[in-house]
Amino acid sequence: MSSENVKIFDTTLRDGEQVPGCKLDTSQKLVIAERLEELGVDVIEAGFPVSSPGDFNSVVEISKIIKNTTVCALTRAVKKDIEVAADSLKNAKHPRIHTGIGTSDSHIKHKFKSSKEKIIEIGYEAVKYAKTFVKDVEFYAEDAGRTDNEFLARVCEKMIEAGATVLNIPDTTGYCLPSEYGEKIKFLYENVKNIDKAIISCHCHNDLGLATANSIAGIVNGARQIECTINGIGERAGNTSLEEVVMIMRQHPDLNLDTNINSKLLFDTSKMVSDNMGMPVQPNKAIVGANAFAHSSGIHQDGVIKNRETYEIINPLDVGVTESAIILTARSGRAALAYRAKKVGFDLTKNELDLVYYEFLKFADLKKEVLDEDIPIIIKNSL
Ligand code: KIV
Ligand code: ZN
Repeated sequence: MSSENVKIFDTTLRDGEQVPGCKLDTSQKLVIAERLEELGVDVIEAGFPVSSPGDFNSVVEISKIIKNTTVCALTRAVKKDIEVAADSLKNAKHPRIHTGIGTSDSHIKHKFKSSKEKIIEIGYEAVKYAKTFVKDVEFYAEDAGRTDNEFLARVCEKMIEAGATVLNIPDTTGYCLPSEYGEKIKFLYENVKNIDKAIISCHCHNDLGLATANSIAGIVNGARQIECTINGIGERAGNTSLEEVVMIMRQHPDLNLDTNINSKLLFDTSKMVSDNMGMPVQPNKAIVGANAFAHSSGIHQDGVIKNRETYEIINPLDVGVTESAIILTARSGRAALAYRAKKVGFDLTKNELDLVYYEFLKFADLKKEVLDEDIPIIIKNSL
């Protein structure tokens, strides 16, 4: 049975770029946008054009070079924002305007000092207005994670009526549990009567470390777009990580869901974004962290050397990592030492290995990690 497609909406250049100190200039954004298209994302959120002339210019330039991918610009539910976004997208082959407004009680009361009815009216007018410029309009119900489901369903129905093609249900504050977020998506599919005219999108933040789990709960319950960033960068604790959701779908064919992503470019793209933003990737980051395919304890190393699948569920080549790493530390065993010694040209017999291993442990206790260049020295000292 062929898998159903889940669209990947990449917001590295918008929500991702909101990280303090990670600002990119237009030329850096262009290089990343081109790579995102090559990676196979369906939508690139290129910026929030009304926010600054620089952001406007970036969306203009990205729109000129991107060929097949949809280029999207963010707005508030404000006429001027929508006009500026439409202008910035003039050259895009597939333009999308992403407009919206806060829908939770907290946003309605404190941010807008408004009422539910008025919020629906403002959202409706914004979508209608955006539709006068582009066919493809996505509506976000900001703080949908904390919005009452009945009201959210009313909002969605009205926005589809106004012409929204995608309904973004952001867990803006990263508050929801996966079961709760999944239920929310299910509720919308069951209670919004015109839902067949739009797709639901998940946009989850990572304040409780649940962004990926929540996005997966969303697609399991029918959502067909995930908004995410490379390396999971974004406001506060970040957004859903693109590489994680893509590989979850790949590694679980039972979900019967897949994306258009060329996963072999994931590692390189992660490095490109990290280098350009000056934002290091944590070594234990799933899929793209330096330790994601590194084994350092003796038991694990022995298993991986015998058969990679004993301790690895992903083939590193599938995400663009050339090979699994066997790291030599004081926790390594003989199998790892023999394996690494062989790689640098020493095929040790069993007796030799016993002698070298004893010397190796003394050396390793003094160092965090034993490197290739240390191996000949250890061997020379022991034999
Ligand atoms: O987190 C959020 O709610 C957002 C919206 C602007 C889409 O980023
Ligand atoms: Zn966000």
